[in-house]
Amino acid sequence: MSAAVQVDARKVTTRRLLEMKQRGEKIAMLTAYDYSMAKLIDQAGMDIILVGDSASNTMAGNVTTLPITLDQMIYHGKSVARAVSRSLVVVDMPFGSYQGNSKEALASAIRIMKETHADAVKMEGGREIHESIERILCAGIPIMGHLGLTPQSINKFGTYAVRAREEAEARKLKEDAKMLQDLGCFGLVLEKIPAALAKEVTESLEIPVIGIGAGPHTDGQVLVMHDMLGITQNFSPRYLRRYADLQSTIIDACSHYVEDVKASDFPNDKEQY
Ligand code: KIV
Repeated sequence: MSAAVQVDARKVTTRRLLEMKQRGEKIAMLTAYDYSMAKLIDQAGMDIILVGDSASNTMAGNVTTLPITLDQMIYHGKSVARAVSRSLVVVDMPFGSYQGNSKEALASAIRIMKETHADAVKMEGGREIHESIERILCAGIPIMGHLGLTPQSINKFGTYAVRAREEAEARKLKEDAKMLQDLGCFGLVLEKIPAALAKEVTESLEIPVIGIGAGPHTDGQVLVMHDMLGITQNFSPRYLRRYADLQSTIIDACSHYVEDVKASDFPNDKEQY
């Protein structure tokens, strides 16, 4: 078994993330959607585990994140939170659970917090959803913002290409980032934007900024677990570093098992009662 990184064993809180930013300690964040993987990821010393709505893609095989429901996110969130003792657990609010009106948004966030026992929620968007953000924060629920490429708006963008290359969009992103901080969000994810813009936003904010495809200058990094473990097929964006090739490992192990069963080699004399 490989040794996990030495980390402070105390539970990660939003306050500790702020202290990490202040002392320049990078923040590691990864997605998880189930109990078994979340337990391993927590043991590895992850600071934040995101129960991302990317579960819609990785767990359910949908093309976008739009179809996943609040009940499904709650199921994944519950499974993850049950496994975790150290990482801060953040659950994505799914598409349709907060964009309608702020009352519905609050009801969705309360369900997530009550039923999953997670530590916080994440929401995509800026000024368009500020009323929902304010209302949820007023209820004492910590929020992580998400700007740049926001996959719940893929039908508006029409592409997964890099966002905010143009001056007007970059300006709006900077204003939204400041607004999210001023409203009281404890952190921010920046997805797929130019590294120079991510650096500017990170340096201008006091709250931790976590990047995905946003270069090296953010306060931390987040990846989708299935991508970095090499489980996902046919997905190789430039920003992705694969830390394992589980696709081959799993296919090899499973085909070896098939061979053994077909050859009546499994179970052997010792593998029975
Ligand atoms: O749903 C997700 O996995 C995310 C990350 C890409 C940040 O939002």
